Amino acid sequence: MAKKVLIDCDVGVDDALALILAFHSPELDVKAVTGVNGNVPLDMVFPNIQKVLSLIKPKNKPLIARGADRPLKGTTIHAHSVHGKTGLGDAIIDLKEGEEWWQKYSGPADELILDLADQYPNELTLIAVGPLTNLALALKKDPEGMKKLKELVIMGGSVRTRGNVTPYAEFNIFSDPMAAQIVFNSGIPITLVPLDATHQAFLTPQRMEEEIIPIRNPFSDFLIKATGYDMEAHRFKNRRSIFLHDPLAVGVAINTTFVKIERLSLHVDTNEDEYYGRITEKGDGPKIDVCLEVDSERFLELFVSRLKFCG
Ligand code: RIB
Ligand code: CA
Repeated sequence: MAKKVLIDCDVGVDDALALILAFHSPELDVKAVTGVNGNVPLDMVFPNIQKVLSLIKPKNKPLIARGADRPLKGTTIHAHSVHGKTGLGDAIIDLKEGEEWWQKYSGPADELILDLADQYPNELTLIAVGPLTNLALALKKDPEGMKKLKELVIMGGSVRTRGNVTPYAEFNIFSDPMAAQIVFNSGIPITLVPLDATHQAFLTPQRMEEEIIPIRNPFSDFLIKATGYDMEAHRFKNRRSIFLHDPLAVGVAINTTFVKIERLSLHVDTNEDEYYGRITEKGDGPKIDVCLEVDSERFLELFVSRLKFCG
């Protein structure tokens, strides 16, 4: 029986690759996709979700909903330097008038999350690959309703490694530390996929040349454009490799044997100082399954094989 999932994302390049992996995996039944401010403003994230769905063409059209356009507290930040002007790198997907590979939900993302948790009690996995604002809003609205979720799989944080926004903080947590603190203390079963793990799962020029480029289908073509891979120069335009942060969170939802887990209680720094958004281990509080080691070869094999899937 496929695992029912809702994916909360800030489509960006790796979010888009995570959606492709999720919809191409028979182990998952993606019921909904919700958008949150993050890599790019929400007004770009939401159309990007629709564009990626129009590339995937899911037979079971998922529900989609717009979520928070800013964090609970603090300044709104984006990552155009990584994800490009539109959030999809150099990839261009035109939406065709009247062709909708989704069903628009009538309310905001936090209501859709609660609605589906209620519809599928103890069955729904929420995969969060952007800032955690939507989850925190749902928890504020109805904490007991959120407890009907089976589990959360979250890409975010850096526990025993450097951050990627400051030396201490990772982007999704740094974007809304208050939301992360609310989610980590919720008591819902959480598997966290931090940079400690995702920095072990990346695409190199060699893998692009040997495994991705030869696929020659709309998804590999999208990946080449979205990641800015230069086929003449045989390298990524402005970086050595591409980290598959969000696809790894989907991979963990599919199969936790890709990763080694430690159960830790985590604290999020919410004071507006140099440690803002930092995650540290603490002695007490709800335990979270933290992924610290990855069998990256096995995960990349899965990722590439699902890219080949063509519906
Ligand atoms: O730090 C990596 C995370 O921040 C990924 O989810 C990426 O998409 C950005 O949201
Ligand atoms: Ca993301």
